[in-house]
Amino acid sequence: MTARIIDGKRIAEAIRRDVKEEAEKLRREKGVIPGLAFILVGENPASVVYVRNKEKACAEAGFSSFSENLPETVSEAELLRHVAAFNADPLVHGILVQLPLPTHISEQRVVESIDPRKDVDGFHPVNVGKLLLGEDGFTPCTPAGVQELLLRSGCDPAGKHVVIVGRSNIVGKPLAALLVQKKPGANAVVTVCHTGTKEIGRFTREADIIVAAMGRPKAITAGMVKEGAVVIDVGMNRIPDAATKSGYRLTGDVDFDAVKGIASAITPVPGGVGPMTIAMLLKNTIRAAKAFAGA
Ligand code: GUN
Repeated sequence: MTARIIDGKRIAEAIRRDVKEEAEKLRREKGVIPGLAFILVGENPASVVYVRNKEKACAEAGFSSFSENLPETVSEAELLRHVAAFNADPLVHGILVQLPLPTHISEQRVVESIDPRKDVDGFHPVNVGKLLLGEDGFTPCTPAGVQELLLRSGCDPAGKHVVIVGRSNIVGKPLAALLVQKKPGANAVVTVCHTGTKEIGRFTREADIIVAAMGRPKAITAGMVKEGAVVIDVGMNRIPDAATKSGYRLTGDVDFDAVKGIASAITPVPGGVGPMTIAMLLKNTIRAAKAFAGA
């Protein structure tokens, strides 16, 4: 079997076109322009690229964006003051503090300082709690993007066994909470594997859908995948590569070339989950702006 390649870039573009139309409508009818604020601390090269791409997407969707680039040495108190200013700013509907933060700053305190109504990352405990309870709140962008990607490529997870590899607070845990809900587009049997799992392949070989989100290049090999499974690769590993202009290339958590001969559908890296994360961030932000405008 040769897998169908799930084109996340194309699906994300369709979502971004819809968001742009919604933004135009909100401006016409309510005079509100969706605004997203970014706080970037330090110069982690991956974070710089992620934030730049998100800012570009905002501009293309007709959103305003606000950026604070703070030095690596900024104090937690100073960072909290910037969050408080964005919390109070009526032109800002969403706030994104790019993670990871330097070790002298508590990510927990920073995330908890964001107004949950502006927490378009869905990382605030209020939104995490709502996700688990199945209530309306902001869903983290990457898990939401994985779900949307599955649905828009004809792979409804309902009744399927989804094996998630990785238990991060950004991807693995919230994705498990999302897909286990008794709701359309979810209702899956969910297994979460992690560093404490003995022989991960024993579980992934049972999966109808594998989501690889452990941050280890090519860790999901052909022998770990059932014939005809759907494979979603959340990995974004930077591998040094002297042949490229940037000096690195991106590789997923899945051995793509080997697994594509076994899976029925697979996402590439880049061009799979990554673009979906940005599309879902825009979706969350327009939702925040609409709630603000009473639309
Ligand atoms: N770092 C890696 N992914 C993310 C994300 O989705 N949001 C934020 N704020 N930081 C990240």
